[in-house]
Amino acid sequence: MRILVINGPNLNMLGIREPDIYGRETYESLCRKIRKHAEKRGIEVTLFQSNHEGALVDAIQQAYGREDGIVINPGAYTHTSIAILDAMKAVGIRAVEVHISDVNAREEFRKVSYIRAACEKTISGHGTDGYLEAMDYLAGTEDRK
Ligand code: DQA
Repeated sequence: MRILVINGPNLNMLGIREPDIYGRETYESLCRKIRKHAEKRGIEVTLFQSNHEGALVDAIQQAYGREDGIVINPGAYTHTSIAILDAMKAVGIRAVEVHISDVNAREEFRKVSYIRAACEKTISGHGTDGYLEAMDYLAGTEDRK
């Protein structure tokens, strides 16, 4: 199974940005953790991070016909981006939304998620383990279309 893991704006600043909320693990260390887990599970994983909405849309479009699943943490674009939602709907690839922090326990504006409508599941507040849980979910339900 092929899974694309997409991270949106400021997630490259993990380990530096608000460590009380997002922890001290860096983006590089998260990538290593994801690659290791993918290898253990026999998942072919591709990682992508961008701070730019259009680049995220491009990455989603390019996944069409290539990827079996998408794990996506759109960062702040979660709460604003209809373009990312539309891209996800356009490609129709099975997807899980991930947030490191518990977005429902924070500011009101973080409770709104546009991307959710294109995802089978949301994992929020499980720290970086959420990415691994999302991969396991997609791999464990692979036959579902
Ligand atoms: C986040 C939560 C978002 O509200 C925030 O803008 C982020 C990270 C999370 O992983 O908890 O950048 O998606």
